Amino acid sequence: MNAGIIGMGKYIPEKVLTNFDFEKMIDTTDEWIRSRTGIEERHIAADDEDTSDLGFYAAQRAIEDAGLSPEKIDLILVATVSPDQAFPSVACQIQERLGAKCPAMDISAACAGFIYGLVTAKQFVESNSYENVLVVGVEKLSKLTNWEDRNTAVLFGDGASAAVLSKVSEGRGILSFELGADGTGGKYLYLDENDQIAMNGREVFKFAVRQMGESAINVLEKAGLQKEDCDFLIPHQANIRIMEAARERLNLPEEKMSKTVHKYGNTSAASIGISMIEELEAGKIKDDDILVLVGFGGGLTWGAVTIRWGK
Ligand code: UT7
Repeated sequence: MNAGIIGMGKYIPEKVLTNFDFEKMIDTTDEWIRSRTGIEERHIAADDEDTSDLGFYAAQRAIEDAGLSPEKIDLILVATVSPDQAFPSVACQIQERLGAKCPAMDISAACAGFIYGLVTAKQFVESNSYENVLVVGVEKLSKLTNWEDRNTAVLFGDGASAAVLSKVSEGRGILSFELGADGTGGKYLYLDENDQIAMNGREVFKFAVRQMGESAINVLEKAGLQKEDCDFLIPHQANIRIMEAARERLNLPEEKMSKTVHKYGNTSAASIGISMIEELEAGKIKDDDILVLVGFGGGLTWGAVTIRWGK
């Protein structure tokens, strides 16, 4: 039996920063941001809210949604590039707040982190090592943002999503996966000497357009499925133009791709989970639907999974 998602939860900070707010801060326009990225607004965590707080709230909700209590969690994996500090890990901080007693570790794979987390969880569940694994994707990117750099500042947002993985019924769950990394592209997206995000947008864009479509097709093939079997594409929410390119590679109609980038910007490791939860909340994902989750990010890293939805 495969590992699958049995519960999910998200947390979005309250404060909203719109494109019009940016017009007052830097040399940019709502029109530019909207047409080049699809982003209209993003949420920013409060000063007294750090990454572990956001992650904890999402984790609590996911565990509740799974119908479990924190003692039942056997492993905590937190995908983030914006930890409160280098150590203790965000995973250990969340473990303490939950009152859980299990191993805990962070995963650093930038915007592909949620996929890396799901795939790691799958290995532990399917090898019968652990029954319930909590995966959290969480970022407070606002603390790594250079607010004077218009090339990057307008792109990112804060948020958290979490999923509990466990064995699900025959034929459901994570059917296939692909993970990848190319360290030679590390120079295109990194934290600079001031601990601020630096990016060669054009290079990341080219890589992402190619990788997202390819990985999505690869995982469908690995699951023995065709493009047309995909009921819902849930891509990393970085830029609507990148997402659209992936959708077109799969020949999917617009309504079969999840889109939240306009509301939250790029929340890195949190984005795929947040988008998926919004589709679930809207009742758009049904039992036995085939979902393709696909992401890319700094590293460079990428990853995708095919899921047959349902417990
Ligand atoms: O999770 C992974 C994170 N990263 C990404 O996903 C980023 C991937 N890359 C992108 O999304 C796009 O490359 C960007 C949105 C970053 C940029 O879009 P683009 O269509 O590739 O624009 P460009 O880099 O070709 O820049 C076009 C122009 C430049 O001006 P010049 O040099 O042509 O005069 C930029 O300086 O747009 C300018 N520009 C802006 N103008 C107004 C860059 N940022 C802004 C801005 N407002 N915020």
